[in-house]
This record gives sequence, structure tokens and C-alpha cells, in this order.
Amino acid sequence: MNSPTLTWSNGAVKLIDQTLLPSTLKYIICRDVKTLWQAIKTLQVRGAPALGVAAGFGVLLGIKNFKGFDRQKFEKEFLQLCDYIGSSRPTAVNLFNVLTQMKRVVAAHPQASVRELKDLLKREALAIYQEDRRVCRQIGKNGQKLIKSGGTYLTVCNAGALATVDYGTALGVFYAAKEAGKTFKVYSCETRPLLQGARLTCWELLRAKIDTTLICDNMAGALMQQGKIDGVFAGADRIALNGDAANKIGTYSLAVLAKYHRIPFYIVAPRSTFDCQTPTGQGIVIEQRKREEVATFAGVVTAPKGVNVFNPAFDVTPHSLIEGIVTENGILKLPLPKTGKPSFLKNKDAFR
Ligand code: MRU
Repeated sequence: MNSPTLTWSNGAVKLIDQTLLPSTLKYIICRDVKTLWQAIKTLQVRGAPALGVAAGFGVLLGIKNFKGFDRQKFEKEFLQLCDYIGSSRPTAVNLFNVLTQMKRVVAAHPQASVRELKDLLKREALAIYQEDRRVCRQIGKNGQKLIKSGGTYLTVCNAGALATVDYGTALGVFYAAKEAGKTFKVYSCETRPLLQGARLTCWELLRAKIDTTLICDNMAGALMQQGKIDGVFAGADRIALNGDAANKIGTYSLAVLAKYHRIPFYIVAPRSTFDCQTPTGQGIVIEQRKREEVATFAGVVTAPKGVNVFNPAFDVTPHSLIEGIVTENGILKLPLPKTGKPSFLKNKDAFR
């Protein structure tokens, strides 16, 4: 996408306010970590890889005003800052993986001064930003082989440029397929309650001139039954070691439907979305969000006052329903080998 989702600009984080799309494309500037925390909480910035990059920039905002040379004091405040950023949203592991990466920078330089640590942390956050751009393009290249000309594909939520720095994961597969000259159609689930599919995915795909059709979430089964879907591509917020994948609520239902109709279901995600501390999906914390998101629609009350509301932001798709996970290192076939982590998760120790 020409307009990056978020950037580090003049000592502040500049990000697209995604709550205003598709009607308004507007950037907001977060000059302090509290404003960024709020932007994450309210989904002005969202999507697992973008949240990882935002966490790195959040650290830069938080340490910016630290005065003095006392390294011990700096480290204490830095760790509190990481906890604070981590308290914004619990499910996207990219956010926590980046905080771990930032902590490692500090731990790896025990002799560095406060000023040197600030520089090192800035370098790390900017490298994470650049890495996201590179990795998403590589994921797209790997995944586009699964798209055939004339095919029709289904996606959910928004795993596109808006969920990353500027290219996307699941939508990156479509962008790369288009760049490779293929013609195909995409159905986008609207993704209740917050409509990331309708508002964001359709906006992105139309800008990219990809043939896109919007459906309500409950129309996916009928489409599959009619033989109109050749594959499902979804992003992920956290992937357990056995391949179970948490993604936007409704993804699991699509995977069950896809299995029943013998349609391949793919998760598309970078290495930074793997949680190597969590053996299965049962251990993934699912964010619960406020009742108003379900009991209202575009500001209009749609449910009686006092009704109970269930509003989990994500669900977990068991690995048995996933054909493969498209990553920057290739397509992992499931089930993953029982002998431990896939080798590409072992090479670097970043996510242990
Ligand atoms: O609540 P959101 O909008 O942050 O949920 C985002 C998703 O579920 C995405 O599919 C996921 O983060 C992958 S983004 C490449």
C-alpha cells in the first residue's frame, strides 16, 4: 500500500486511524505511550504484526523522556513500560515477542549507558519495522503459488497492509498473486462485530483492483455448498507449537465449514506470530471485549438493555482443520512433526 499503516516520524508514531475507514483516511500522531496504548486498545491500530511494530515504537515513546544517567533506574522504568504496553491487548503474540526482543537488547548490553541503550532500542524498533516489510513480501511470494487463475477465495477480518506495516499476510498472498499476473476473485466476510472485513479488507482490495465481493459472515457456508470457494486464507494472532491458531472470532467456523466441504484452509502468518512457549491452542488467552461492540451497530442500540453479551475477539482453529501455514520460510504442512519445533523456529533464539 502507498500509505504505510504506521511509521516512526520525528520522535512520534504516525498511524492510520483504522476506526475511521473506509470513509476517511486520516493519520493520527501518538507523541506519548499513553496515546499509543489507547490507539491499540480502541483498534485505531490493529492486526498482529502491526501491533508488534507498534509495541517497539511504544517503547521508544516511553523512554524518550527519561532524564538522567542512572542505568538501574532506566531499566526499572523500561521494564514497567514493557508491562504497560503488554497490558493493552492480550492475544496477538507479536506484541509480546517484540517486547521480549527489546528486553534482550537491554540485557545484552550490560555496560551500555542510558544514552547508548536508547540508541540501541531505537535501532531495534526500526529494524523490526523493516523486517515486517520484507517478511510480508516473502510470505506473499510463497503463498501466491496456492492461488490459481480463475479461482475464488475467501478471507476473514483484515490480514492486509493495515494489519502490518504496508503489505499484509493473507492479503499479501492475493497481492503477490496479482503481481504474478493471475486473475481471481475474493470474498470477504464482513467480520462482526467490528467489521474489519467490510471496512478494511474491502477497502484495501478495491484499492489494489482485486475483484472483491462482501458477504455477511453467515453466508460463507452457502457459498461453499455451491462450490464457489477454492480456498480460505486467514491471518493469525498467535500460533501454538502444535499449529493451533488463534485468529479473529469466526475463523474457526470457517475452518469447520471448509473441512466439511473439502476446501483447503490456510493460515498465513510470519514467524513472529508463533508462540513457542504455548504447546497447544488451549493455552492461548482470548481477549474479551466490551458488550457495546455486539449490542450496538454503528452507534445504534440493537439489543435490549440488560441482555447478556458474549464478545470474544478471537477463536482458536485446531491444527487438524488447517491444510498449511504460509510463512516467510515456506508453507508448513500440518500436522507439524511431533519431534519438537519446526526447524525454522529453532534457527534464531528470539522466540525461544
Ligand atoms: O482485532 P483485530 O482487528 O486486531 O484482529 C486482527 C486479526 O484477527 C488478524 O487476522 C490477525 O491479527 C492477523 S493480521 C496479519
